[in-house]
Formats: sequence, structure tokens, C-alpha cells
Amino acid sequence: MKLGTCYYPEHWPEAWWADDARRMAETGLAQVRIGEFAWSRIEPEPGRFDWGWLDRAIDTLHLAGLEVILGTPTATPPKWLVDKMPDMVAIDAQGRPRGFGSRRHYCFSHQGYRAEAVRITRAVAERYGHHPAVVAWQTDNEYGCHDTVLSFSAAARAGFRRWLAQRYGTVAALNAAWGNVFWSMDYRSFDEVDLPNLTVTEANPAHWLAFRRYSSDQVVAFNRAQVEVLRKLSPGRDVVHNYMGFFTEFDHHAVAADLDVVGWDSYPLGFLDTFRFSEADKLAYARQGHPDIAAFHHDLYRGCTPGGRWSVLEQQPGPVNWARHNPAPLPGMVRLWTLEAMAHGAELVSYFRWRQFPQAQEQHHAGLLRPDSEPAPGLAEARQAADDIAALGPVGAPPKSVALIFAYDADWVTGIQPQGAGLSALWAAFDCYSALRELGLDIDIVPPGTALDGFALVVIPCLPIVPEHLVEDLKRFPGQIVIGPRTGSRTVDFAIPAGLAPGDLFPAKVARVESLRPGLEHRGDGWAIARWLEHLETAAAPELVAGDGTVASWQYGNRRYLGAWPDRALALALLGRAAADAGLATHRLPEGLRLRRAGSRLFAFNYAAQAVDLPASVVGTALLGGPRLEPGGVAVLAQE
Ligand code: GAL
Repeated sequence: MKLGTCYYPEHWPEAWWADDARRMAETGLAQVRIGEFAWSRIEPEPGRFDWGWLDRAIDTLHLAGLEVILGTPTATPPKWLVDKMPDMVAIDAQGRPRGFGSRRHYCFSHQGYRAEAVRITRAVAERYGHHPAVVAWQTDNEYGCHDTVLSFSAAARAGFRRWLAQRYGTVAALNAAWGNVFWSMDYRSFDEVDLPNLTVTEANPAHWLAFRRYSSDQVVAFNRAQVEVLRKLSPGRDVVHNYMGFFTEFDHHAVAADLDVVGWDSYPLGFLDTFRFSEADKLAYARQGHPDIAAFHHDLYRGCTPGGRWSVLEQQPGPVNWARHNPAPLPGMVRLWTLEAMAHGAELVSYFRWRQFPQAQEQHHAGLLRPDSEPAPGLAEARQAADDIAALGPVGAPPKSVALIFAYDADWVTGIQPQGAGLSALWAAFDCYSALRELGLDIDIVPPGTALDGFALVVIPCLPIVPEHLVEDLKRFPGQIVIGPRTGSRTVDFAIPAGLAPGDLFPAKVARVESLRPGLEHRGDGWAIARWLEHLETAAAPELVAGDGTVASWQYGNRRYLGAWPDRALALALLGRAAADAGLATHRLPEGLRLRRAGSRLFAFNYAAQAVDLPASVVGTALLGGPRLEPGGVAVLAQE
């Protein structure tokens, strides 16, 4: 695994570049990502290109022995372009244009902007496509960041109508598929269909799902248009994009089909503070991040390309600027996050950013250097990580053990029609993942359709729309299968299936579902049914049953069905049983300790704020660290 950093030569005096490059190399960094926000400096006026500075910046990095990942600058269209084409900006759900003055002010449906994005991509690729320093291209930057996938523009409406006509053929078919007879929502032609915003109360969920699919397809097409140019003009280079954390607005599997390497941007402390973690976890892990945040995304994005190639394109190196609270990481965490990415098979960890920038929006965002160019604490940890990586040598492939199935449309369905606050397919996936990790297991997060041979356990946390091929794949799967709530509960057009959920995956009918307010619980042995409950008609055997007789899960052959939300204790109880039946060895890990196997190495990471000991069940010869892990500590054992 290589280390790198995100660098903005256009932010700094040219006289500094050579010294920066030298210090990067001295730190053990091998790759530098540049250029993704530099459009206004590359093309200051329409058609007038200023390549000189970028030529010299790339040459300077090259001379220092550094490789370059070059970004296409399409996340930041310059002011002159917006002025020339004012309708290229996205329109928010309230119908307001999103203004110039930050970034991502474009609409994915706008064909004029798409042509401009292709034009600037071609210009940059013609200039640097064969430069020996350029080893990879990053398309754009964080598709969807700042809530920019959905746009309610005229361009989106026109595109959506065409997309519907293609998908449904006739408007009668659309009316039937969506159930538009309800509330007299029938249309007489595709030209009558508006976008689903600004309706009096909620729009038809089928309408929303179609619009989400359409919007996701625009991201795929926008990305593909750039990829085609890059493949032609810069053959042999990897094309990557940087995905975000806990973000499902477009189908990441579909975008990844056009990429060589899936990148993602890892900000464990910012994500902990921002997302749905308990106040207790937010406090306990404030300086470390919840122990499963980074690993969840490593395993999710590794599963996005068939080759499993993935990278961390941005790694938090210190406090960030954008969460509600932005603490500094505990000493050791920057190194821990880096080595954990290695354990999950990353090709690169690139720290964001090289030097903290004293102006504009991210003044409080740490870099590896302070604004005065003195080292920030992250720099020494990056250096330490580089030494550790060199000492450990190449690690083997992650083992095949548990496959956790996740699809992006699952999260769209639960988001459009949650039926209970805070219940989403993404969080069901995270909660199952987290429980599996607490059991010390190794997980691959994969889309339906992935070959399942070699796995011992398949977990489907929540998959409302079940593709037919998954039903067939699971018929042939000899291992253990766990199926979670809401699975099989919707057709592709957002209707309850005629035979009721969960369909062919489990011999049962979900006769009724209910969501439960906090405190309304059915208590079992150390676990509780909370938040969501399904009542099944089935001949399968009840397995986990609450004290009042309410059934949480059923078993039938090698399959289990969970009719409740996979909250921590319940998920641990159920997945622990399934893992045992699958023949997988589990561990009782102390709070905050996590394990990961790579080839014959076993990595251990301490996310707790206090020292922990490896349990006696974890055996091997120490290659790094020892049996006691300090906060932020890492141990690596050789196992045969
Ligand atoms: C990412 C983004 C970077 C920077 C960073 C700050 O979302 O790609 O450009 O803004 O966050 O943490």
C-alpha cells in the first residue's frame, strides 16, 4: 500500500513547491492528488488556457519521485461559465437556484454543462494524458457532496420525462405501475409528469423512486462521459472517483462499473459527530471515531468493483472544519486509520491535505503541515505509518468469510417510505456489520449478483427489492443465510408484492408490520425487539422469542429470518448463532477492539480510550505491537 497527500499547488507560492515535494517524499509519501478544483486557474477565460503553472507543478512533483493523481476540475465550474450558462446550476427542492460562490453548483441533467465537463476533461487529458508522472485520474470530486444529486431543474424535468417514456413505453403502463388511480393522479402523457417536489403532501413513492433512479443514472452518465475521454487520451492510467461516507444518493455500484479503482474520503471523527450514533458513542469515541465507521466503508467500497481495487483518497489527518464539533484525534489514530486501510486491502491512503490553508472555507481543517509550514501532529504519524508499512511488507488478500448484501435502491425505498423514524437500509447494514465485527468476523459488503462461493455466511440486512437472480443464487448457496426486516417487501415499482414479503427467500408471509416508539419494546434474553416488528404467518420454527412470546426470528433449514430491527444486542444474538452454524470462530472482544485478517496476518486495532488486552482466543506471533494495546494502538500477528 502507498501513502499520498492531496495538494493544491495553486494555493501556494511557486517558490515553495520543490521544498514541499521534497518533504512529501521524506515523509514516505509516494502519490500526490492535485488539480480537482483548479478550473479557474487552468482556463481563466473561455478558451484561454494557462498551462504553465500546472506543467511546472507536475514536473516538480515528478522530479521529487512522486506520482500524480490528476483531478478533472468539474466540481468547480468557473464564474464565467455560470454566467454564460446560468441555467446549468442545480435547483433545490424548494425551486431555488443554487448559487455560485462555493462548489458543486451544477445540475447533472444539464446537457450544456455535461458538454463543458467533457471539453475541459479533454483539454486536461490532451495536455497530461501521457505525462510520465500521471498514474491516475480522479473524475470530478465527491459526486453528490452538499446534497447535489437531486436537482429540480427544467433540464431534469425534460430528462426525466424522456427517461420515463423509455422505461414504461406508454403512459398507461406508467399509471398502472405507479398505482396512479389512487388520488386521481393519472397522467394523459409523459409531458404531464412533473418532478416529485412541491406536492401538497408526499408524492407517490413510485414517482420518487423513479426520480431517484433517473437522478442516479445522470451521475453514472456524467461520470462515464469523462471516463470515455480519459480512456482514449490517457491509456494505461487508472480512473478513480472519491466516494463519501454514509452516502447513498446515487448507485455507487453502477458508477464503479466505469472505474478501475473506487476511492473514498475517510473522516472518522467528522462522521461520528454528524451521523446517527448515540450520544454515548459520540462521547466515548470522540477522538477515535466509532470502531466500525472506516472499516464499513473500506469493505463496502472494496465490493464495488469486480477486482476489488480501492483506495482512501482523502484521510482525515487532524481536526476537520465541518462537523458540529471537531476534536483532534487521539495520538496514534492517524496511524491506526492508515494501517486499518492496509488491513482491508487499500492500494493508497492519501492524507487530506498537505498544508492547512489560511483562507476561504476550510481554514480550520488540519493538514499534515500547519499554515506556517511547521509539522502538524499528523505528519509524524504518517511517517510512522510509512515505516510500519515497509516493515510489514505486502499483506495477503482479505479472507472470504461473511458476505453482507447491500443495494443502493434499498436505501432509497426505506428513505422514501421509512414507516418509522430512523429506520433505513443503510443503517440496518451498518448495525449488522458492526455486530459481525464485534464478533471478530471479516466481512465483504457486496451487491446482489456477486458470486457467493467461498463465503460461509450471507447476511441480507434489509433488501426491499429482491432481484430474481439473488433468489436463485441463494438456492444454490450451501452456507448459512440471515434475512433481515423489510426484505422482499416491495416490487421494482414500489408496490407490496401480490404474495406479500419476503417472497421466495423464506417460506413465510409478513402479515403485518409495525414501528415502535422508543421504550415500546419486547424484551428477550439480553436483547429486545425495538423500533420495528413484523408478524409472520409461517411454518418455520421460532428461534429468538421475547419473554411475552413475541417472535424476533425464525429458522428454516439454513435460513433465518429476522422480523425486528437489528439493534446491537439482538443482532449480536442472532448473528452469533448463524456464525456458529456456519462454522466461523467468533471472539468476545473487549469494547473498542477490532480484528481484521489479511492473508496470514491478523491485525488488531484499539479504538477504546483505554488500553485493552487481546483475548486469549487471538493467537499468533507478534510482528508489530504486543498483547496489550494502548489507546490508538495496533498489533499485527502472523498466523499459520
Ligand atoms: C471532502 C472534500 C474535500 C474537502 C474535505 C474536507 O468532502 O472532497 O475537498 O472539502 O472534504 O474535509
